[in-house]
Amino acid sequence: MSNITQPSNSAPNHKVSTNRCVRVCLHRTCKKQGAAQVLEALAKLPVPDVTLTASSCLGQCGNGPMVLVLPDMVWYSGVRAKEIPLLVEQHLLGGERVKQMLYYRFHPQG
Ligand code: FES
Repeated sequence: MSNITQPSNSAPNHKVSTNRCVRVCLHRTCKKQGAAQVLEALAKLPVPDVTLTASSCLGQCGNGPMVLVLPDMVWYSGVRAKEIPLLVEQHLLGGERVKQMLYYRFHPQG
């Protein structure tokens, strides 16, 4: 009976920083539409290597609250605080866009 040791195929254990950032517009219109609650909900669910930033106007007033994920350049519109757990789990942790929350103007195909 042979006892052959297979070479290890495991990759070196080096962590790659994603340097992602989530920007929440807190300017006038988005603020009126509940952006502060969205920012608060995101702050309660911190994600490693993801920075959370309150932003000035993102130029899409009236479609807010607007949330922009960088460097992915994924825009979410009309975001509600209750949707944040899904956004965090599916996009920030899982790497999948949340299609039903995407901003139609920049993501017409979803
Ligand atoms: S006020 Fe939020 S995009 Fe302009």
